[in-house]
Amino acid sequence: MKVTVVGAGAVGATTADNIARKALCEELALLDIKEGIAEGKAQDISQTAALLGFDTRITGSTNDYSKTAGSDVVVITSGLPRKPGMTREELIGVNAGIVKGVAENILQYSPEAIIIVVSNPMDTMTYLALQATGLPKNRIIGMGGALDSARFKYQLSKHLGASPADLNAIVIGGHGDTTMIPLIRYATWNSIPVTSLLSAEAQQQIVADTMVGGATLTKLIGTSAWYAPGAAAASVVQSIVRDEKKLIASCVSLEGAYGQTDICLGVPVIIGKTGWEKIVDYQLNAEEQALFNKSADAVRSMNDVLKT
Ligand code: NAI
Repeated sequence: MKVTVVGAGAVGATTADNIARKALCEELALLDIKEGIAEGKAQDISQTAALLGFDTRITGSTNDYSKTAGSDVVVITSGLPRKPGMTREELIGVNAGIVKGVAENILQYSPEAIIIVVSNPMDTMTYLALQATGLPKNRIIGMGGALDSARFKYQLSKHLGASPADLNAIVIGGHGDTTMIPLIRYATWNSIPVTSLLSAEAQQQIVADTMVGGATLTKLIGTSAWYAPGAAAASVVQSIVRDEKKLIASCVSLEGAYGQTDICLGVPVIIGKTGWEKIVDYQLNAEEQALFNKSADAVRSMNDVLKT
């Protein structure tokens, strides 16, 4: 198994680090446009192999796509991150050019690859990758829901005094502060609905804190986060390379599911060796469906920026 991570910045390198630690593949290629950074980080991660006990061979290169040849999975993290006060939407123009170019280069050397898009605004970049490559829809997966769902569990765990691992909770919709939908009605702690364990105020607070989870960190750190995003991207890689069939909220092409078409948006999907294999229908109530439709409208208007 071979995995490529494009973009050796904060998120890309952390994704690569998580993939290596878990020995998810025999070969890992890291690539960046900035001279030396991918080589350096590949060596740095490789030097943890003796300490952590993994055998993944990691190579780094400065924009040499031949080094990525024959990849089964490619994670695209190249692009600019958000600065404090900046929205993901503002990144569209710059990152669209980067993501399109990277996807085309990747497919030249790895025509069978499954592509995971991380670069923001992720829903729009996923849609762009699908349009630009013409790949079968199951091979393009946007990563955002895995991260937002982990942040949702973090907030729930704080209020419940519970282990995040005992929680089941999912965030659908767009990967944006105002477009994501933490589905609290479906969240459970050891199979018990959290709505029966938390006050209405606590539930509202958890949903609100989840939605601004990324922005909160950007304010604190000065740039967007990387530990949880890297771990989340690696979890999607893991479900593919180990054919785990995990249910992970992911941004995928909708052709009628959840009442939407001609858009890529976050929904619960089963992820396995062929990419995203099936959309799971969570039977939204009227309020949740209205939020989903609103989220789709917002993402669609960002997608329209691509056409201008
Ligand atoms: P970063 O600035 O640390 O790294 C980005 C890297 O991409 C840089 O090293 C840069 O040299 C490289 N790059 C730029 N153009 C390239 C090209 N054409 N080819 C190859 N490499 C290129 O940024 P960071 O923090 O790693 O974030 C990366 C992206 O991921 C951003 O767009 C950010 O908004 C997004 N992000 C998405 C998340 C999600 O859940 N979907 C979560 C966190 C970040």
